[in-house]
Amino acid sequence: VVEHKVDSVLSLMTLEEKIGQMNQYSGNFAATGEVSDNKSGEYLKKGMIGSTFNVFGADHLRMLQKQNLKYSRLKIPMLFAADVIHGLETTFPIPLAEACSWDLDLMEKTARVAAEEATASGVAWNFAPMIDIARDPRWGRVMEGAGEDVYYGSLVARARVRGFQGINDYKDLTKNNTMMACVKHFVAYGAAQAGRDYNTVDISDRTLHETYLPPFKAAVDEGVASFMTAFNDLNGVPCTANKYIFTDILRDTWGFGGMVVTDYTAIMELIDHGIAKDLKQGAELSLNAGVDMDMISEAFVTHLKELVDEGKIKESQIDVAVSRILEMKFLLGLFDDPFRYFNADRERNVINNPQHKKLAHTAAQKSIVLLKNHNSILPLEKAKAKRVAVIGPFVDERESLNGEWAIKGDRSKSVTLREGLEAKYAGTKVKLTYAQGITLPLIDRSTAHVSTVNVPDKNGFSEAIRIASQSDVIIAALGENFHWSGEAASRSDITLPGNQRELLKELKKTGKPIVLVLFNGRPLDLSWEDENVDAIVEAWYPGLMSGTAVADVLAGDYNPSGKLVMTFPRNVGQIPIYYNSKNTGRPFNEERPADYRSSYIDVENTPLYPFGHGLSYTQFIYSSPSISSSSLTKGESIIASVEVSNTGFFDGEEVVQLYIRDRKASVSRPVKELKGFQKITLKAGESVKVDIEITEEMISLYDINNNWVAEAGEFDVWIASSSSDESNHLTFELK
Ligand code: IFM
Repeated sequence: VVEHKVDSVLSLMTLEEKIGQMNQYSGNFAATGEVSDNKSGEYLKKGMIGSTFNVFGADHLRMLQKQNLKYSRLKIPMLFAADVIHGLETTFPIPLAEACSWDLDLMEKTARVAAEEATASGVAWNFAPMIDIARDPRWGRVMEGAGEDVYYGSLVARARVRGFQGINDYKDLTKNNTMMACVKHFVAYGAAQAGRDYNTVDISDRTLHETYLPPFKAAVDEGVASFMTAFNDLNGVPCTANKYIFTDILRDTWGFGGMVVTDYTAIMELIDHGIAKDLKQGAELSLNAGVDMDMISEAFVTHLKELVDEGKIKESQIDVAVSRILEMKFLLGLFDDPFRYFNADRERNVINNPQHKKLAHTAAQKSIVLLKNHNSILPLEKAKAKRVAVIGPFVDERESLNGEWAIKGDRSKSVTLREGLEAKYAGTKVKLTYAQGITLPLIDRSTAHVSTVNVPDKNGFSEAIRIASQSDVIIAALGENFHWSGEAASRSDITLPGNQRELLKELKKTGKPIVLVLFNGRPLDLSWEDENVDAIVEAWYPGLMSGTAVADVLAGDYNPSGKLVMTFPRNVGQIPIYYNSKNTGRPFNEERPADYRSSYIDVENTPLYPFGHGLSYTQFIYSSPSISSSSLTKGESIIASVEVSNTGFFDGEEVVQLYIRDRKASVSRPVKELKGFQKITLKAGESVKVDIEITEEMISLYDINNNWVAEAGEFDVWIASSSSDESNHLTFELK
């Protein structure tokens, strides 16, 4: 039915009108009234804008839609989009943090709430989720994704697509709280060389298929509505003009029927990439690759007609792209009612609903990762008398707590650490004192070619040392200003910026135990900190309920359960470092001599904190590993099991992880790969048997002939508390 409707509209459209639908602007026209004089206003008056992003608010968008309809001869509704990455106004933890919860239901729920608020604000298309596998913590955009692992990243991709779209397939986008998701950035943006944003990506076709494509394929299987091109070139061909990925893989192999939008000015950038001599050629190349909508470049709107007239592209190609765009507008119900997303009453009721705040609190708690807890210094329980000195730039920092891409999250509303601690410990035996010690180092991109960093002076050190000396324990609240991660925020040095380590060194001299609480958007080099402080709490950017959730963890009211989804290196020289590396022909192995082995002479091969690592206030003991059969028959499955006991004094949650190694195959396989997990909750003293199914599909690989198959042979299995835990080992065979 929708196809017929699309065809009937298409048949009435002029070529110019069709091209107009392929044109997208950022919301910079007519902020409050009539159409403005700039280019977008000019095209609006010709009825030649298909979509606008970065605009919000039921009343405002109603006004913009009215303007659009006034000028659109066929009354084709405009589609409004935005980057609602981790909440609209209710800000959830940054996606990397939230992924550390290993709680897929939670991630689906927060995405759903983000979509509820976004759609109530009039936005029906979300430029999220970002599902790029990321293995280089120098890259600032690691904060937007789910980390380094393909299996886990694919599950998170599915959960977030499900949550944003609110349905199982984009063909069912019928309600006014469903929205199109857009997976980005296709593809391999996370493999930018040296972690420098927008940089070249040069990877093998095998790596592309094994590592970077699977989350996108999972999103297609989940019914995602749209894809965004990546800025980078892939093996010499910029993604925005890459026919191999958009036509051969996405459309022809995966059968994707939704729409493709470029990233911001990405067609224009084909000139700088050196594959288009001008914007016109850029338009030709990207249309031929399979792009449907041009974000910002004005390449399509300026040149497609000319290209058709010259016979360089066919009008039928434009028809295909426009059909996909119109189909989405029909599916969203915009042709039936172009104003269906603009209800000011609903907006008032939905946005910042107290239930959303509650979820933001839960999400923040579950995202926090306890990296170290020497002598169980944490928690700092309310009933035990202690003088606690809380020191550092994050004591009162509010602005950074939402992290980057908090699109409409009001930065003045997030709960600071001091506020969280005050509320937690008021009237208890814990006495708190505070000092900032140092201001947060900031970057200045405005003047310098290379961003300059202010290194704050040490004037506040003496007050910090004074209160530290009079305390029983120090909480040092340090990290990165939120602008230090996100887009165009790559770092070549991933230690704590500015004089923060200097401050820690001074605090260390007092001899008091130190609990380091970190607020940051990427794995950091914490080698010095790991050696010198007693506990480390990785809080990331927890969003609206930051201080409350961190205080819950510090006081033991919430037992931390997060586990890392990205490896923390010992130093920047180990990057890229990820748990599922290959063995090499000369693996480093304790039993063998170290020289002429794949290792460094100045640092170990192991990371500081491995993928899957995260401590709890209780102890989980794994025992009695077993496997239902030592042989797996094709088409069937076996069960790997382990007994998990909570032997400590706190109730807690544990992420039980299953790793598999394929010992010999037609191509070298990683030393282990995550293939399953279960998040369990155990009361103190309780035990449970955890069963994880192993299927043939889980051990299939991209073989020597480029097919996904499971090859017969022997396999190792570990049921583990992190990727470096090998204490529960099993084996099986595929015959
Ligand atoms: O969606 C984003 C993308 O991730 C980076 N460039 C800008 C786009 C639109 O805001």
